[in-house]
Amino acid sequence: MSNLNIVEVEGLTVILGGCVVLDDITLNIRAGSFTGLIGPNGAGKSTLLKVLLGLIQPVRGTARVFGHAPGGSHGLIGYVPQSANTQDSGFPVSVQDVVMMGRLGPDRIGGLYNQADRDATWEAMEGVGLASMAKQRFGSLSGGERQRALIARAMCGGPRLLLLDEPTTGVDVVAQDDFYNMLTRLKESHKITIALVSHDVGVITSMVDDLICLNQKVFLHGPPGEALKDGMIGKAYGSQTEIVMHGHDVPHRHLPVHGEGDENG
Ligand SMILES: Nc1ncnc2c1ncn2[C@@H]1O[C@H](COP(=O)(O)OP(=O)(O)OP(=O)(O)O)[C@@H](O)[C@H]1O
Ligand SMILES: [Mg+2]
Repeated sequence: MSNLNIVEVEGLTVILGGCVVLDDITLNIRAGSFTGLIGPNGAGKSTLLKVLLGLIQPVRGTARVFGHAPGGSHGLIGYVPQSANTQDSGFPVSVQDVVMMGRLGPDRIGGLYNQADRDATWEAMEGVGLASMAKQRFGSLSGGERQRALIARAMCGGPRLLLLDEPTTGVDVVAQDDFYNMLTRLKESHKITIALVSHDVGVITSMVDDLICLNQKVFLHGPPGEALKDGMIGKAYGSQTEIVMHGHDVPHRHLPVHGEGDENG
């Protein structure tokens, strides 16, 4: 991992529907890092990813991705949106068909797939452990398998940065370790950068190189060991949340039952 930043966000403010969703945030993502983005519901995590993709315009501040304004680095970014795995078109498309769509882009609409596309598709399915399910209907996959297929689709376009918005939705607790190990392997073998939004605070703090905790503002940013010391996660999640340390120095989020604590957060 280098100290080069492939994402640089400075003084970024985003207003949606009249509300300030991101308020003067400054952060960066290091090349080759596994960066975890955490924060409560409505914190602006998905919004931040959409800004990086050029889908949402900030009212103030700048975002640079690979040195370009957002939207200028298509092909370099692979993206799996939040809840993408619940989509089922009802079409009898196979896993392989879905993954191979990742080879299409603005410059490739309507063309026929070639051998390079088929090779990349196969490699991407192997990378996520789905090669044996290539012919299976996408709609018949489990939630966790669909996530893997969508990651393969994002990977087979050959991105340098993979943005994943809550990819562990539908992945059971036991399978989560496998899932994160798979991402770490992909990151190493393809020399890419991964930024991932997650609510698995306990798990990702033990997996990532850098942790960014957002809630409208940046509450913490840095290696998880440093970041966790000062109780800033608790502040970001509000006073109803307590981060308790379990074994292995892994923090877990403890959400009190309704009515406990104050009315904020
Ligand atoms: N198009 C929009 N118009 C108005 N408000 C919006 C729009 N899109 C998002 N918001 C609001 O912006 C805030 C941040 O949304 P965002 O989806 O970024 O949160 P998040 O951190 O990804 O939350 P979650 O963990 O629930 O996915 C929310 O309060 C949401 O209601
Ligand atoms: Mg979100």
